[in-house]
Amino acid sequence: MSKLSLPHNSSMLKKDFLYGVATASFQIEGGIDHRIPCIWDTFCNTPEKIADGSNGATACDHFHKWQEDIDLIEELGVDAYRLSISWPRVMHKNGELNPEGVQFYLNILERLKSKNIKAFVTLYHWDLPQYLEDNGGWLNRETSYCFAEYADKISQAFGDLVHSYATLNEPFCSAYLGYEVGVHAPGIVGKEFGRKAAHHLLLGHGLAMQALQKNSPNSLNGIVLNFTPCYSNSDSEADLQATKFADDYINQWYIKPLFNRQYPEIINQLPENCRPEIHDGDMDIIAQPLDYLGINFYTRLSYQADEKEHFVEMPVPEPRTDIGWEIYPQALTDILISLNDTYSLPPIYITENGAAMADQMIDGTVNDQDRIDYYQSHLNAVNTAIEQGVNVKGYFAWSLMDNFEWAEGYLKRFGIVHVDYQTQKRTIKASGLAYKNFISSR
Ligand code: FCB
Repeated sequence: MSKLSLPHNSSMLKKDFLYGVATASFQIEGGIDHRIPCIWDTFCNTPEKIADGSNGATACDHFHKWQEDIDLIEELGVDAYRLSISWPRVMHKNGELNPEGVQFYLNILERLKSKNIKAFVTLYHWDLPQYLEDNGGWLNRETSYCFAEYADKISQAFGDLVHSYATLNEPFCSAYLGYEVGVHAPGIVGKEFGRKAAHHLLLGHGLAMQALQKNSPNSLNGIVLNFTPCYSNSDSEADLQATKFADDYINQWYIKPLFNRQYPEIINQLPENCRPEIHDGDMDIIAQPLDYLGINFYTRLSYQADEKEHFVEMPVPEPRTDIGWEIYPQALTDILISLNDTYSLPPIYITENGAAMADQMIDGTVNDQDRIDYYQSHLNAVNTAIEQGVNVKGYFAWSLMDNFEWAEGYLKRFGIVHVDYQTQKRTIKASGLAYKNFISSR
């Protein structure tokens, strides 16, 4: 069996470098009768939005199998587990906490604690309560304040059980995929919406950070951003400029306000109706000090100039994963170094990295050498960035187990543990065993 390894002097082999696995509530829980509806329930019920026509009603049935799943996490020998809280499970429509939902997570957090596994809790991994969407969702500034209230109440309820909080997971995806191109819930389409949603998400983040720093000053409090580094298709001035615009639009838009209190310059090139409404003081709220920055990385994209649009995406070359994303680990090193050069960053955690592969279960085992190769090359990429001065403190594999992959439904498998959706049987893949052996060899 193939192994994961790093050079013996790598700081990623020290015990204080954290290794974890990650999941998100809607993708694994099911148990929808025990919570109010969210935008992903509605989106799944809309014809043709999800590739296999599926939904999150059962998913991995983690709602019932959470004890077994935590035992599995323990068996992998990881230091930390990154999970997300389902806002519609822990809050009633009237804004009060739902004790049953809160207890579900308290049980999980206590079990993790008893096993010495650090809980990395994300407050918003895309499952907005539907009643808030009915009121405008992230296009309504009030949603930012509702989010802060939820953050305030839940962080009080969790006490000191949480090692680290993230306010949002990937606001780019919520804003751009959800409110601009419409391929994610709530499926709204229009250039005039994406930046507005992004601003309210970031405002909600800043307000929630204030609540977290007050209620949970001893946890690591921050945010998780995804980066898809942008490469120019040629050295022509036009392509370079188009690529810079793309980078500002999809990457820098979400990080620059956090550290530099402003949106990228391109905001001035956008038509008036596509700009967010920024109130006095908003940028100061958004730029709360962060204890850490979570970075999710999967792939890169290449761009060229276009006469009508600011940029166009080039076709994705090989090698690609099963979801069609290029395998290009160098981009992870590049983005870590360039962010570190551009901003005054707090410690960094790689909060997601992993690959969908066309797994085959043969005689009860999944020999996913391609996924092991992906992990190896990306661990190397992180190590190279650290050697060049980037302060990375941890790494989370996406995902603990196969799960509901949003618009792809259950067709794309990202787990290091295989899930049989008929029987809900979990089987650790070769990649899971390699990760386990790597972690325990430190
Ligand atoms: C990220 C999401 C995560 C998962 C991976 C593959 O964008 O945060 O939930 O779906 O992609």
